[in-house]
Amino acid sequence: MAKRRWRHADKPDIETSGIEARFYDQLVFVGTFGLYHRLLKVVIEAMDVQPGDHILDMGAGTGKNALLMHRHLEGGSITALEIGSEMRKQFRQKCGGYSNIFLENLRIDEPLPFREQFDKVFISYVLHGFELQYRAVIIQNAYQALKPGGKLFIFDWNRFEVQESGPIMRFFMNHIECDPATDFIRQDLPEVLSLTGFGDIGNNLYFRNRIRLLSCAK
Ligand SMILES: C[S@@+](CC[C@H](N)C(=O)[O-])C[C@H]1O[C@@H](n2cnc3c(N)ncnc32)[C@H](O)[C@@H]1O
Repeated sequence: MAKRRWRHADKPDIETSGIEARFYDQLVFVGTFGLYHRLLKVVIEAMDVQPGDHILDMGAGTGKNALLMHRHLEGGSITALEIGSEMRKQFRQKCGGYSNIFLENLRIDEPLPFREQFDKVFISYVLHGFELQYRAVIIQNAYQALKPGGKLFIFDWNRFEVQESGPIMRFFMNHIECDPATDFIRQDLPEVLSLTGFGDIGNNLYFRNRIRLLSCAK
């Protein structure tokens, strides 16, 4: 099977569109045997969302994660950033009834206007889809958007060697996962977070240490 290619020289295919977007939740559910959905519940519990939290969800997808976080809110809010039109349509269907969930059509890999507004920033299975320089922009955006003491949560691949993995993971990383993920899983992300100014870096590991929730504080 040919490896998926970027649609544009500088735009990664983490931008979800077409059939993949229309059936995103179903495809992920079937493709991961329900693991991703189960893990998200665990991860969102680990975020310890407080009723009054203002949360920024970067690359929010269909709104599934926003709904899980929203259960914990009372007085707080979620601002979701998503550029995929099909994803935004599903997001509006899921979350449109809530007055404290806001959806913005903003690119997370370009400078964002938010300054010290949020208690938490969540970025779930998005960062690995960007090249190094865009990852830095995204992390900087998260830093600027957080209030002092606010926390960033990155749910994504852990650091690991594909060659040391089993055949299913090797096949997935070599043929299905988007190209920048190959470099992402080798990057020392805690070091990047620390250089950006984050501290108190924590690491929750899942799925034989292949997946992690990185947390850090501004
Ligand atoms: C792999 S999906 C993950 C969705 C969701 N966070 C989840 O955990 O299910 C990546 C999402 O990021 C969105 N996305 C990709 N590039 C983006 C960008 N530059 N700015 C905002 N959203 C982006 C895609 O459209 C897609 O919905």
